[in-house]
Amino acid sequence: MTAVSAVTTAAPGAPVVDLDLADLRHDPYPAYAELRARAPLAWVPSVGRHLLTRYEDIVHAEKLPEVFSSREQGSLLLRTVGPNMLREDDPNHRRLRSAAEPPTRPRQVRDLWAGAFERTAHDLLDRIAGRGEADLIADFAEPLAAANLALVLGLHTASATDIADWSRAMMAGNSNYADDPDIWLRAERATGAIDDAVAEAAEAARREPDGSVISSMVHAAEPVDLTEIQNNVKVIIGGGVNEPRDVFGVGAWALLNRPEVLDRVLKEPASWKRVFEETARWVSPIGMYPRQLTRDYEIAGLTLPAGSRVGLVIASGNRDESVFERADEFDLDRPNRPHLAFGGGPHFCMGAWVARHEVSAVAWPLVFSRLKGLRLAAGTESPLEGWVFRGPTALNVTWQAA
Ligand code: HEM
Repeated sequence: MTAVSAVTTAAPGAPVVDLDLADLRHDPYPAYAELRARAPLAWVPSVGRHLLTRYEDIVHAEKLPEVFSSREQGSLLLRTVGPNMLREDDPNHRRLRSAAEPPTRPRQVRDLWAGAFERTAHDLLDRIAGRGEADLIADFAEPLAAANLALVLGLHTASATDIADWSRAMMAGNSNYADDPDIWLRAERATGAIDDAVAEAAEAARREPDGSVISSMVHAAEPVDLTEIQNNVKVIIGGGVNEPRDVFGVGAWALLNRPEVLDRVLKEPASWKRVFEETARWVSPIGMYPRQLTRDYEIAGLTLPAGSRVGLVIASGNRDESVFERADEFDLDRPNRPHLAFGGGPHFCMGAWVARHEVSAVAWPLVFSRLKGLRLAAGTESPLEGWVFRGPTALNVTWQAA
């Protein structure tokens, strides 16, 4: 498809809504409610794109990837990691996705990774159990997500600390709108280290397949070259640590603030799955992601010209009252409607089953069964921050040390 140049101004007739980025980072939901009610497709100068905020419109856009393209031009993600499946359309997207995906399917998660996820969670809890206090984000959720990701990717020489540091450095690159040279330097160091680790792992997997994502890409039916493997591993490291960490943190925080709901969940362990889906709906770890129009298209009452940049605000769609009654409430009994936290269409999250298992079958059940009398420490009244990515910056808790 011929590339259409990016249009970085408001579409004719689009309402222009000034949103303050600091307010959005603090709590984006009041602004989203306003946008859904008054300007469901608005040009927002501070983010340099149109925001689409209603559930049905986002679902509609996701059904038309040939119009709402993932190949956004000039994206910071492309500068940080190079071309990758998340910023490709089919057929190239499909080739990369089919090569990488098999190790993340439900059966593979259960047969290949579940046991190791559990052992790592126990090891991390062994380290803190005697302390009686911890930050569950830094001391548990982040190292768990990073170690699990190293395993699933097949990066056997990388430690959980390497993965978490690389992830942070690349995330900073992806949001380096101020073009800070130090941030680019850190991101380049991280991506260089990932290139080396992937080259080594790919060579080992070529000799001896090990069921991992890198191994799957090396042995894919449709060839994938080393640079493509490296770039896709980067994008997975960039996103595969913070989202499981954040959904763990938000869910734990929600339950610790609702002792009666927590009691119920502890009595019915099958409901951890519902806790996961409701947490991801209520505070979506990824709040917005970009698309660029390949041709003129009418949506939400406006015609967007080819090249327009649009943010699909899934965090807003997940609070849309026309789909989720009392959408601002955390409610495990709400009717089962599909949420948008994992996206939709061809780019539906490849790690959804990995994340569901590591958080709802491993992390929460072990934390709540092993740390007796778990409660929030003072100062954790409102630990959530962010709008493109949202989660607790820390989750300080105490318990009765064994
Ligand atoms: C609760 C945890 C997670 C959430 C909420 C989440 C959310 C998302 C969303 C919204 C997208 C679509 C983005 C877009 O269309 O532009 C996505 C894509 C993706 N996610 Fe996740 N993610 C999570 C965990 C993970 C994990 C653990 C991995 C790796 C094992 C992962 C790997 C990916 C990949 C590779 C893509 C791109 C898929 C494609 O382009 O076809 N995610 N994720």
